[in-house]
Amino acid sequence: MGQEVQIYDKAIDKGLEGVVACSTAISSIVDATLTYCGYTIEDLAANSTFEETAFLLWNKRLPTQVELEKFKKELSSHFKLDSEFVTFLKGLPNKNIHPMEWLRTAVSGLALWDKDAQDISAEANQRKALRLTAKMGVLVAALERLRTGKPLLEARPDKSVAWNFLYLLKGTEPDPFHVKVFDTALILHADHELNCSAFSVRVTTSSLSDLHAAITSGIGTLRGPLHGGANEQVMKMLLKIGNMEECEKFIKGALENKEKVMGFGHRVYKNGDPRAKILRSMSQELGKRRGEPQWYDMSVRIDEIMQDKKGLLPNVDFYSASVYYCLDIPIDLYTPIFAVSRISGWIAHALEQYAGNRIYRPRGNYIGHHDLKWVAPDKRKS
Ligand code: COA
Repeated sequence: MGQEVQIYDKAIDKGLEGVVACSTAISSIVDATLTYCGYTIEDLAANSTFEETAFLLWNKRLPTQVELEKFKKELSSHFKLDSEFVTFLKGLPNKNIHPMEWLRTAVSGLALWDKDAQDISAEANQRKALRLTAKMGVLVAALERLRTGKPLLEARPDKSVAWNFLYLLKGTEPDPFHVKVFDTALILHADHELNCSAFSVRVTTSSLSDLHAAITSGIGTLRGPLHGGANEQVMKMLLKIGNMEECEKFIKGALENKEKVMGFGHRVYKNGDPRAKILRSMSQELGKRRGEPQWYDMSVRIDEIMQDKKGLLPNVDFYSASVYYCLDIPIDLYTPIFAVSRISGWIAHALEQYAGNRIYRPRGNYIGHHDLKWVAPDKRKS
């Protein structure tokens, strides 16, 4: 066999840990502080709305009252799905599939009905940004209704993304407290600096591909259990454990088997994820109101055990699981609803990338063989 040669002295560590791959003015993480365009996540969660946060991420400033009303109006004018596109959706398999597979196909499909699909000018990107963001929640709710044999409902243009998602999912006007909680969850998940899916969105954009392609890349990346897919795994774990008494045995067993406990650990946060703290109190309040405090209580117990045994703190996916469960959202939709929010951040990253683009083209440190000579198949040794 040929000689093994290394071209570079040193490759970047697996997972690009510590590598700064671009400059961004969208969001920042410093120790346990997350900010969007200069505003802390605590401030936005307490005072903002998902719509205002999307405007902030795309424009890097808060809107005036007039701008906000215009933005909300424009966004909600795109809730409606084209009737031909609905026929396309109805033709997609929706049983025994993961909703993220369906969602990435649906979002990619939207390009076929978008007259601006191939236009990457700033004006066309703004139009597509509004259309895509408005439709994401409508699509996730549509999947639920299609797969349960229920008719699709019309979104209410006078209501928010959060209100409409809960309404379209269930078919009844949602409880205002649920809308507030869900809207806050959307704010908390909207962006997170150069996370795995935002990076894939930027990589796709950097080839000057189109916005639908970039968002489809983001959905594909978010789906994995090490990224957005963790939240549904957390709820499955809570249901499997079943009660407080079993928490310690279960977690100890998982750690002994070197299994990862979903919803814990983070590449960047080593002193706690600020989003988890906000979700934790929402989980407690929702559990109390629903008369099912056990999911919060078990989560707190697991949180204590993980800190004690492993020194790991919960991330955004841990308490969001019990929040969504108490909002009565089907478990396999937890990752799709992450996308309903994160699309705002993905778009912000795509717009920032288009505005100052250079194609991402790193090198690989080749560590395979060199100087081999081709031989005929019948002469090869197994
Ligand atoms: N449960 C148990 N152990 C964990 C863990 C978890 N959730 N997360 C990290 N660890 C351990 C690893 O096993 C490793 O231990 P070792 O050094 O003894 O091998 C160490 O902590 C470092 O973990 P590593 O996977 O290398 O960190 P990373 O920066 O590459 O990955 C995550 C970060 C988030 C992907 C990782 O913590 C994880 O897989 N968490 C669970 C999935 C999750 O919740 N994802 C949502 C992220 S918001």
